[in-house]
Amino acid sequence: MARLLEGRIAIVTGAGRGIGRAHALELARHGAKVVVNDFGVSLAGEGTGESPAERVVEEIVAAGGEAVANAADVADFAEAEAMVRQAIETYGGLDILVNNAGFVRDRMLVNTSEEEWDAVIRVHLKGHFATLRHAGAYWRAESKAGRQRDARVINTSSGAGLQGSIGQGTYSAAKAGIAGLTLVAAAEMSRYGVTVNAIAPVAKTRMTEGAFDTSAMALPEDNSPVVAWLASEEARDITGRVIEIDGTTITVENGWAHGPSADAGARWDAGDVGPALRKLLGEAPVPEKVYGT
Ligand SMILES: NC(=O)c1ccc[n+]([C@@H]2O[C@H](COP(=O)([O-])OP(=O)(O)OC[C@H]3O[C@@H](n4cnc5c(N)ncnc54)[C@H](O)[C@@H]3O)[C@@H](O)[C@H]2O)c1
Repeated sequence: MARLLEGRIAIVTGAGRGIGRAHALELARHGAKVVVNDFGVSLAGEGTGESPAERVVEEIVAAGGEAVANAADVADFAEAEAMVRQAIETYGGLDILVNNAGFVRDRMLVNTSEEEWDAVIRVHLKGHFATLRHAGAYWRAESKAGRQRDARVINTSSGAGLQGSIGQGTYSAAKAGIAGLTLVAAAEMSRYGVTVNAIAPVAKTRMTEGAFDTSAMALPEDNSPVVAWLASEEARDITGRVIEIDGTTITVENGWAHGPSADAGARWDAGDVGPALRKLLGEAPVPEKVYGT
């Protein structure tokens, strides 16, 4: 096997279980030194007292790789900063950030509590922002000091965020936000040698087992080769993209784009809007189905 990440330094968040664990093992197999982050929470984000990151580190080391555990809450701004510092102090830098950590509290919108909304938005959206913010500041400083790194960020969106999913309004909003954040981060950070892409994975994990029929669902490790390649130096020219991975199929997700338009030449009269908008909607592609409808 060609090793794509020899000597590169990576952080994978939420890597104690599920898809993140598979990413950490795959990056290590390709020669990366990995900070394995996990806060050790339940599916709903509550404390369990477990340290799953330690077990993944043991697996990586047993296979001849290099890894160190980190137990930060990714959505805690100071803990996210300390995690980036841990990578730099332990291994001498940072090249790859895989934002993957998160949990769900699925509910129909009208049953969603304020606390559920805040917790799910926080872990996914702030959990991506906090790590990206601190890693980005490091990469900018390195670039300005004449030591630009060939850096990679791989965020984790979801089909729920891109197409929508019944019963997952909060989660869908957070994952759509991650797709938007990916576009802006890619545009802002390219000057520092950083690419920023996102995946929309699919896997049988504790997250999907309760909610869907997972009997034929892909495995966590089916997602990780795409992450390993996007993290490699070969992927230098690819940024601001969202890639869906479903087992053996990879799909480029086309995001929001300007469709048919009409210009009234002066402020629209409300009475004219209906016919004009219906004509445009007739010319526009039909949106994909929301999952669960
Ligand atoms: N499983 C799927 O089909 C699927 C589909 C689309 C997107 N995703 C996304 O993939 C990612 C991984 O999901 P999974 O299915 O492997 O779930 P999982 O529950 O198996 O793993 C998530 C891990 O993140 C950790 N975590 C949660 N909150 C954290 C925090 N604040 N700080 C650090 N670690 C934290 C958990 O302890 C857990 O080990 C998530 O972002 C999820 O939304 C999964």
